[in-house]
Amino acid sequence: MRVEIVADADEMGRVGADLIAQALSAKPHFILGLATGSTPLPVYRELVRRHREEGLDFSRVITFNLDEYVGLAPDHEQSYRRFMNENLFDHVNIPLAGTHVPDGMAEDPEAECAAYEAMIEDVGGIDLQVLGIGSNGHIGFNEPGGSLASRTRQVRLAQSTVSDNARFFASAEEVPASALSMGIGTVLDAERVVLFASGENKAEAVAAALEGPLCAKCPASALQLHPDAVFVLTEDAASNLALEY
Ligand code: PGA
Repeated sequence: MRVEIVADADEMGRVGADLIAQALSAKPHFILGLATGSTPLPVYRELVRRHREEGLDFSRVITFNLDEYVGLAPDHEQSYRRFMNENLFDHVNIPLAGTHVPDGMAEDPEAECAAYEAMIEDVGGIDLQVLGIGSNGHIGFNEPGGSLASRTRQVRLAQSTVSDNARFFASAEEVPASALSMGIGTVLDAERVVLFASGENKAEAVAAALEGPLCAKCPASALQLHPDAVFVLTEDAASNLALEY
């Protein structure tokens, strides 16, 4: 697997934007998988800067986000649709109709998830999937203990995720209990995956993902099965790695 160690969040932003911008210029009708959370923010900031200052073109890009909280309307302060609009889509020339985030208010979540999978398949699959990693090793909301072959579905958030994400809500009680999330199998189908991790609190999960056994305890370890997985890590997030890359 390819591992790139960067000094800080700014460099993470540049390296991530390089990977995405190069791929976009090679294939303008690009299918980009996106993630929320604090980690990819420097990447999105750099993409916005390159759009404004260097004309990076998103006009033919279609996006699919990994997940959305169940029960949060698109305009809710903490919904992932709103996060994406505010941090990326509103600032680049992407047609909003081509941006997809699972509908956390869907009356029939199972049908919504099946339709999400079908939409990804209809456009020919995801070219590049951006990922963060939870301190418990989750990718998307695929929590420890789940199937490594899962598809988009409704999932219950692990207690550790509720605690990690409580910082965005008034209290842990307000964090939704479940989410709609692409599955590990869905993620593994992407042509390339790029996982970003920063901070010492991710060091254990990153080491388990890259060097631990392939197991449900660390869902991100499933990326060991992917032929083109890139990990972009700050030094502290890489500090538990034993191997040389
Ligand atoms: P974070 O979340 O980027 O806010 O740390 C990552 C994740 O939970 O996947």
